[in-house]
Amino acid sequence: MNTPKKFFIQTFGCQMNVYDGQRLAALLESRGLTPTANVADADVILLNTCAVREKATNKVYSALGRIRRAKRPDALMGIVGCVARESGADAFKRVPDLNFVLGPQSYHKLPEILDNPDTKLLNIDLGGLEKFDALPPMTRSPAVAYIPIQEGCDHCCTYCIVPYTRGREISRAPVDIMNDVHHAAQTGAVEICFLGQNVNGYKYQDENGTVHRLSELIRDTAKIDAIQRIRFTSSYPTEMTDDLIDIFRTEPKLLPFLNMPIQSGSENVLTRMNRPYSLDLYIDIVDKLKAARPDIQISSDFIVGFPGETDADFDQTMAVAQRVGYINSYCFKYSPRPHTAAAVMPNQIPEQIKSLRLVTLDAALNEIQRTFNLSCVGRTLDCLLEGADKTGRHLVYRTPYMQQTIVDAPAGDTPPTLARIKITDANKASLRGEFVA
Ligand code: 5AD
Ligand code: SF4
Repeated sequence: MNTPKKFFIQTFGCQMNVYDGQRLAALLESRGLTPTANVADADVILLNTCAVREKATNKVYSALGRIRRAKRPDALMGIVGCVARESGADAFKRVPDLNFVLGPQSYHKLPEILDNPDTKLLNIDLGGLEKFDALPPMTRSPAVAYIPIQEGCDHCCTYCIVPYTRGREISRAPVDIMNDVHHAAQTGAVEICFLGQNVNGYKYQDENGTVHRLSELIRDTAKIDAIQRIRFTSSYPTEMTDDLIDIFRTEPKLLPFLNMPIQSGSENVLTRMNRPYSLDLYIDIVDKLKAARPDIQISSDFIVGFPGETDADFDQTMAVAQRVGYINSYCFKYSPRPHTAAAVMPNQIPEQIKSLRLVTLDAALNEIQRTFNLSCVGRTLDCLLEGADKTGRHLVYRTPYMQQTIVDAPAGDTPPTLARIKITDANKASLRGEFVA
């Protein structure tokens, strides 16, 4: 076979996967391959996959079905990420022409298959932080640089496959993280988003016994002139310690927006989810955050139809959504996953009830979002350029609350990366605005 020249990569799932996809692209580019958006042109085809819900896994296998028909017969095709780890060797049985199956902590082994294209490569080991050292740096950073500060998760929520696919929680050394932050700042980043499945639980003990926390990473990052905005995702409620709450008070570059999933408003359900916090405690944290940063807004993920969830449990979820007034939130129907405790719990909820609860909660969340968006009309917000829309006549910016804001593209001029935008109109999905001189 000729030396591969082009690669096609499709990423599914969370920001961690987006980051992994960027590193994979950099790895292939460092070997002289160039990206292509056309499967039929590709010598190497990678699906960077998510397994969080059954639907996400199914999506990957249907995409593989389509790609098999479109690809060149000699192209190398493989899956990396969470579905690779979930399926393991079974993936080769389901799709016999797969060449490689690499888990989220072993995708840096990809060169092995490039060097030995006539073999099959399976590696779903949990290699911890090994991949970070093994991968070449990215040559240019996007305006928003995602910087992982830990791998895995130790919370072991009973519905979640992540502790299985990404392993136990390991925090990276602050010196390695800050090297990545400086490199990103020097190569184009203006916003840093720290990533971790349990990001606010970041904890690193150095050789002197000193414990380093996320608040310190935020403080150090804020000192870098090129970095204008900082955020982090996703937070676990009871890890929101006072030092972190306080940094919302003291650090203006930290955006007034926090993703802190509650998942359910019922303490009974939370207990069965192995998320043992009380509603009072959660609300107390939200109130403390609001006291530290009065303009802060919170977003959440919700799961409806968890095993044993009653109508009364669901009503409590509806109530907490209103009480906190979450913006930018997502809700999902509970989906049983392999290797998880909840999959074998009694009282699984029928699909119609899950669907009904999803529609009901979604409608409430959308209404809260619409009200918040409308409350932004008349305000001037500092926004970050995301790119042009499909027509090319408009630009899309992101507010500090991650709302999409559409402005008319200025004729001829290069649009500013960061802009003060006056919000002139709003609906549920997005804002309309104009540049303020
Ligand atoms: N079923 C439905 N939703 C899930 N999530 C995680 N596991 C499951 C599951 N088995 C949701 C949680 C999490 C988000 C990333 O995905 O709400 O916060
Ligand atoms: Fe999964 Fe829970 Fe860890 Fe989030 S905190 S990754 S939901 S186990």
